[in-house]
Formats: sequence, structure tokens, C-alpha cells
Amino acid sequence: MENNFGPNVTVLDHPLLTHKISLLREKSTGTNEFRQLVEEIAMLMGFEALHDLPTKYVELDTPIERASVKMLAGRKLAIVPILRAGLGMVSGLTALVPSAKIGHIGLYRDETTHQPVEYFCKLPNPIEERQIVVCDPMLATGGSAVDAITQIKRHGGKKIKFICIIAAPEGIKKLVAAHPDVQVYVGNVDRCLNENAYICPGLGDAGDRIFGTK
Ligand code: PRP
Ligand code: URA
Repeated sequence: MENNFGPNVTVLDHPLLTHKISLLREKSTGTNEFRQLVEEIAMLMGFEALHDLPTKYVELDTPIERASVKMLAGRKLAIVPILRAGLGMVSGLTALVPSAKIGHIGLYRDETTHQPVEYFCKLPNPIEERQIVVCDPMLATGGSAVDAITQIKRHGGKKIKFICIIAAPEGIKKLVAAHPDVQVYVGNVDRCLNENAYICPGLGDAGDRIFGTK
């Protein structure tokens, strides 16, 4: 879909996806439904983001005849959620590619400065040859996504996609400027950030809503 963020940013804005994202935004949506929706949205977004996975022809027997059919080939996948909220997207993505390896990057935003603070990083090793999908429901200032991808590159990651459910324009611009080689997939683009660097209208704190904290 056309947008002003450049060729590496895909804003999905599909009616079925946007309907589910709207349900996430409703403040009375409880933890159980919220988690279920995040999983479904991640699966729908992953389906689009992985449209270019390489395939190869293999021979097999259908009940009717021998056939040459396409199956996934080559590049192995690594899914890397940004903790905590990114964890909510993992089951939806692994439903698509059960053989994917999972890395974890732990980051939280300092409440005053809104800068990301890293507390954990464990990635599949080696990671150089893998298609990497970084996931986080929220792209606000962009600080967390930029730092997470910088970490992954330091560990040797090369082919990286980033999937987020809701983004602020500021965050998308920062991410594209810092990592122009990364393909970015966004569910909905929201209006702006507020004085606490929360996305407006957004959905509140994604981690708290997924894990029922706060
Ligand atoms: C949230 C969200 C992103 C980050 C986005 O995580 O899941 O990781 O904020 O904000 P940014 O684009 O301004 O960096 P948070 O720091 O609240 O941690 P949590 O997932 O553990 O709640
Ligand atoms: N992190 C969230 O979980 N929500 C926001 O709106 C911004 C950052």
C-alpha cells in the first residue's frame, strides 16, 4: 500500500487486520482476548511479510500422479521478539513457520528519558544466513526497534524485517533513517506521540495489556 515513508515500509491497513487492531485499542478488551488478537494479527502480518521466502521445486506423489511442486527452500528463519510485548507475536509467527529459531532481545523504555535500556540478548548462532523477523507490537519513538536491530547486526544479522502492529510516524522515520536496509511492515500508522511518548490513539502499554501487569 502507498505511503510517505519510502519503498521499505509497507503499511498493511487491510480491513480484516484493521478490525482486529481496533478491537485491541478498546480499553475494555481484557488480557485473554488481547493476547488472542495479537497472535492472530501477527499471523496475518507474518503472512504478508514473508511473501518473498524462497521456494524450490520438489518431486512427490499425489494420489493422482507424480508432481513437481514448490516448497520452502534455503534461507532459515529467526524470529526475534523485543521483550516483553514482542513475545505476544511469536506464536502467530511460528504457526506460519514452525521450524523457525527464536532469539530474544530484552529492552525497556526508561520512564523519564523514553530511551531504551537493554537487559537481555540471546540470538540463534550462527545468524548470518538467516532471514530475521524482529517483532514488537509498538513502534513509538523508534528507539527500541533501532537498538534491537543494531544489536542483531552486531551479532552478524544481515537480512532483517521488522513487524509492528501500530506505529507513530516519528518511529517509522527514525527506524528507516537508522536502518535503511530493513523491510518494515506496519499494521496501522497512528497520529502522533503524546508528552509521555505514548502512541495516540494507540492502545496503551502493549506489554501490560498482554501480560496483565500494572
Ligand atoms: C514498549 C513496546 C516497544 C517500545 C516502543 O515496550 O513494546 O518495545 O515500548 O517504544 P519506542 O519505540 O519509543 O522505543 P516497553 O519499553 O514498554 O517494555 P515492555 O514491553 O516490557 O512493557
Ligand atoms: N510502548 C507501548 O506499549 N505503547 C505506546 O504507546 C508506546 C510505547
